[in-house]
Amino acid sequence: MPARRIMLDVLKGKTVFPPPLWMMRQAGRYLPEYRETRRRAGSFLDLCYDPDLAVEVTLQPIERFGFDASIVFSDILVVPHALGRDVRFEEGRGPLLTPISAAEIADLGSEMFHVNLEPVYETLRRLRAKLPDETTLIGFCGAPWTVATYMIAGHGTPDQAPARLFGYREPEALRRLLKVLADHSASYLIRQIEAGADVVQIFDSWSGVLDDASFEQFCIEPVAEIVSQVRAVHPGVPVIGFPKGAGARYQGYRDKTGVTGLGIDWTVPLEAAKALQRQGAVQGNLDPLRLVAGGQALADGVGAILQALGDGPLIFNLGHGITPETPVAHVEAMVKQVRSAAR
Ligand code: CP3
Repeated sequence: MPARRIMLDVLKGKTVFPPPLWMMRQAGRYLPEYRETRRRAGSFLDLCYDPDLAVEVTLQPIERFGFDASIVFSDILVVPHALGRDVRFEEGRGPLLTPISAAEIADLGSEMFHVNLEPVYETLRRLRAKLPDETTLIGFCGAPWTVATYMIAGHGTPDQAPARLFGYREPEALRRLLKVLADHSASYLIRQIEAGADVVQIFDSWSGVLDDASFEQFCIEPVAEIVSQVRAVHPGVPVIGFPKGAGARYQGYRDKTGVTGLGIDWTVPLEAAKALQRQGAVQGNLDPLRLVAGGQALADGVGAILQALGDGPLIFNLGHGITPETPVAHVEAMVKQVRSAAR
């Protein structure tokens, strides 16, 4: 009998208390052992594409904190990279890409896509063999809109103005870009599932910058397309959608996209989160800066989430990725508080 993976129970709609727990970006620079492996790897992409090292860093937070879920170490920008786009990560500057033009979008695609991503699939296969049986293994991709914003601007921006403007000026080109990304992301997730992922998560970190019509076209439609393609092949595998900053548009997102679980950022009011939880599991939503601050701010934030959402299907997580300046001791305190919670 396989051990219970409690996160999968929660995604089926069950209430488990204390709730399963993991953190977005749990393998990252706040961990000294990550920084050590990262130094040995050379570039960030070398780390993503080296299964020995990617397995090592993926397991680091599991070994330290015993989280209920492990997310494969990679990045959302391996998809444009595997499609043949130039992607680099520069120390202190984040990702840098060569901005894509409308003409280049027309020819976008690569027969080498899955060959290029084979190291990610190999990492997942090795992880499943190494992880404790009760640990859920998560695969992921970026949502087409969020990936497109980096492909168009060539770097991070505070409001994704270049991609928004591109969408108004070149609507056909953006539509095609989102379609190419949706199709490739769906087959990428399908391969990740076949390599051992129990759950997949779609990160839409920039869904909060769009107007109503654009949100429907650029966020809802491509994510619904991915979910439907994944479901057609693997109907039983839960999909978590994380439309960060979607605000009032969280309402209806699950229905329209078909995602199983909903990742909620820290600005979602707990009352609204409770309403969303009536339709299925929610994941989140501690402000990562409470984890940086620690002490009472952390204890209050954790307590409020457990109190408001603990009697429904909840996956305890942050409302966005953990930041590099977070003290490890604060993560330990959070884990202790969640694990020892009583209702
Ligand atoms: O959660 C995990 O532990 C799995 C690994 C993971 C990474 N990136 C590793 C990473 C995941 C799930 C991502 C997703 C990702 N990547 C998103 C969506 C989620 C989010 O945070 O909004 C986005 C937008 C990216 C693109 C990206 N990658 C940016 C903007 C940056 C630079 C920001 C930074 O923190 O430097 C990255 C680099 C990156 N991806 C790092 C890590 C651990 C840090 C780089 C390093 O170690 O040198």
